[in-house]
Parts: sequence; structure tokens; C-alpha cells
Amino acid sequence: MRMYDLINKKKNNLKLTKEEIDFIVQGYTGGEIPDYQMSAFLMAVCFNGMDMEETTNLTISMRDSGDTLDLSRIQGTTVDKHSTGGVGDKTSLILGPMIAALGIPVAKMSGRGLGHTGGTIDKLESIPGFSTSISGDLFFENVNKIKLSIMGQTADLAPADKKIYALRDVTATVDCLPLIASSIMSKKLASGADAIVLDVKMGSGAFMKDYDSALALADTMVKIGNMAGKNTSAVITDMNQPLGRNVGNALEVIESIEALNGNAPDDLLQDCVWLAALMLISAGVASDIEKAKEMALATIKDGSALKKFAEFVEAQGGDSSYVFNPSKFKLGEICEPVYAPCDGIVTKIDAQEIGICSLILGGGRETKESIIDLSVGIKIEKKLHDTVKKGEPLCLMYANSKEKLEQAKERFINAYTISESETEELKKHKAVYAYITRDGVNVIN
Ligand code: URA
Repeated sequence: MRMYDLINKKKNNLKLTKEEIDFIVQGYTGGEIPDYQMSAFLMAVCFNGMDMEETTNLTISMRDSGDTLDLSRIQGTTVDKHSTGGVGDKTSLILGPMIAALGIPVAKMSGRGLGHTGGTIDKLESIPGFSTSISGDLFFENVNKIKLSIMGQTADLAPADKKIYALRDVTATVDCLPLIASSIMSKKLASGADAIVLDVKMGSGAFMKDYDSALALADTMVKIGNMAGKNTSAVITDMNQPLGRNVGNALEVIESIEALNGNAPDDLLQDCVWLAALMLISAGVASDIEKAKEMALATIKDGSALKKFAEFVEAQGGDSSYVFNPSKFKLGEICEPVYAPCDGIVTKIDAQEIGICSLILGGGRETKESIIDLSVGIKIEKKLHDTVKKGEPLCLMYANSKEKLEQAKERFINAYTISESETEELKKHKAVYAYITRDGVNVIN
């Protein structure tokens, strides 16, 4: 086989066989295929796509390029939740304790954040003492004992994806459905859970900007997962504004604690409840979606999810007094509002820009080596549909540098569209749009 012929085949929109896809993935990972040939191939995929069989074969080939985790030491059915990434997305911090409180094991290997979206591990490290650098033995012991543990990723999962993703990043080939779906699913399939629930974000802060493309991605990933033998389902959720109100590491932990205390903003609560319901169905403890949602909500109402969060924090060395008294969290020393420039209704928010404001304040990483400031961030005061008066705060910014604060403020104002009345587009806005299982798509009204 020659890489030249395979690039040409995809350029001519012909279907690649499993052997040909394996040749490309193994050849590139092993260093025999150079970057320039792989770049040409990836661009051909961007223009001509891949069908379901090719996309699944690409996923399996990348999954098999490295370690596959063995979670068989965990008692019970493990369900992994994955989000395609969003601003203010703290659902893992809320869902983990909700699911664990119902006795279902949550064993999560998580990464650090890069760019405008934060990572779960960074957020958790804003709790003094909390460590995700724990041994595999302690991880499994905690999951079996308290049903919840989160550790930093140590295994070499899907190294082919790591290398290909880095190349996609510099060759404008990231935003391509079969490449995104296979990239995400190769890592999820390698991470060993029995079932997978995907939170596919849609909107201004997500990869997928509209419903049709989010649905196509969700549907492709659900099919890949099920074809690979894992019960996989997905929810399409909104990312046309930051999820909840807080963006930034410590601020997101504070909001998660408030949510576990029963005070979540509606979009955040809905997102968590739908994801939790699909996780409960995947774990086999519920069969009806409405009952599953009730079970999930009950863990917040009866306080068991909050208690579970405190137990989890303590088991990983964290100071659980912060869970019961979140005013102890250290926030940026400068706290200033950003004021509305006119009267009206908030009709549009560029969520990605809000994420970039948090990055500018120091809350995110520009490169893998950047050191982040866990105490900075943004507390959103006005969300979509809200009425504002000129001079009212749109948000509060927490910063430790006046210069960074001024830069972030200017960008924040430009991320908001304030209109005289609700737009047609805004009238269609929802927190959760649809869920997809192996049986098909269910639109949520
Ligand atoms: N996240 C991934 O892991 N891969 C992509 O291609 C896009 C988002």
C-alpha cells in the first residue's frame, strides 16, 4: 500500500477499506507517514467526508493505537459521561455526586483544560488539598467504597488521536464531523466504561454551531459507540451562552456546590438532570426517562448528592469544610462589574468570547505549559431573554491584574447583543434540545 494512492482515493471521493485506514493510522503514529501526506489526507476527508463504516473503522484503529483501561476491578456497571466542551460546563462536578449517591460507580479519568474551556481537574484543584494525582489502587478503592473518584489521566489512551489532533489543529482540519466523532470516540472507547453518555453542545461556544450539525455529530457518535459494543446515548444541549452563571475554576466549583444545595440556574439543572437520567438508564437502574429524571433530582432534594461530594473531596485529600462553606474559596482580589451600554433584552451572547475573557483574566491555558489562576473568572448577571437597563451590571469580573481586567471587560461588552425585542432565533432557544439513543432521536419540547 502507498499513502499517495490512499490520499488520491479519498480526493476522488472513494471509500477506504479497514485495512487502508489501519495502514494510515499505524503508519502516521509510527512515524513512517510524514506530516505533509497526513495533512493532505485530512484535508481530503474534510472535503469528501467518510461514511459510517469508514468513521467507525478510523475510531477503532485510533482506539487500538494505545492502552485500553481495564475497569473490571469496579463493582457494578460503569457509565462514562463526556462533554464535547463548553464555557462554564461544570456538569461533571454535579453529576458525579448525583450518580454516586444512587450507588452507581463513577470512575473518571479527566484532563486539564486548554483554550477557552476549563478542565474538571483544574476546577477541583481550587479546593485546598484536593489531589487528582492519586494511585490506581486508591482510585479503584475509592470508587468501590464511595462510588466516586476522579484522577488525572496517566494511561496512554489513543496516542494516534493525540498526534493527529495536534496536526489537525495547525492545518485547519479540526471542524470536520468524521474526524471529531472518531477523535472523541477513540478515547472514550479506550477508557473502559461499560456505557457512554455524550453531552453534545450546540451554539456560539461549541464546535457545532447549529442544531443540524450537532445532531449529525451526536448521531454519528452514538452509532460508533453501539457498533463498538458499548451502550452509547447522547443529549444535545445549549451552548449559546455560558452554562449556569459562573465561569472560572473556583467560581465553577462554588456554583456546583450551590447546585448540589438545590440552587442551580435552570439551564445547568436541566443539563445535569437529563444527563443523569441517561446515565441511570444506561446503568440499568431505570427504564423510563421521566422516572430516571425524578431519581436524579431526588439526590439534590434529599441532600445525598451534596454529602457524597464532601465525602469524595475528603477521600482525595481536600478540605471538605469548603463544601459546606463555599465563602471560604479564594477569589480574585479585584472585583468589578461590566455595565450594560443600553436598555433592552439580551438576544445573543457569544459564549466562546466569554470563555476567552476568562482565559484573558488568567483562568485558562493558552498553551499546555501555562500556569492558571484558579481564583479569577466571571459571574454572569444577565443571560439570554433577560431585560437590562443601561448601567446595570451584565457580569462581575474577578481578577488579579488591572490590565487583564480592562482587556477582558472590553471583549465582554462586544460579546453581548442587546436588542429592543426578542428575535425569532431567540424564541427557539432551549436548554436541552434532544436525546439520542440506539433506538433513535427524541426531540424535547
Ligand atoms: N474534542 C476532541 O477530543 N476531538 C476533536 O476532534 C474535537 C473535540
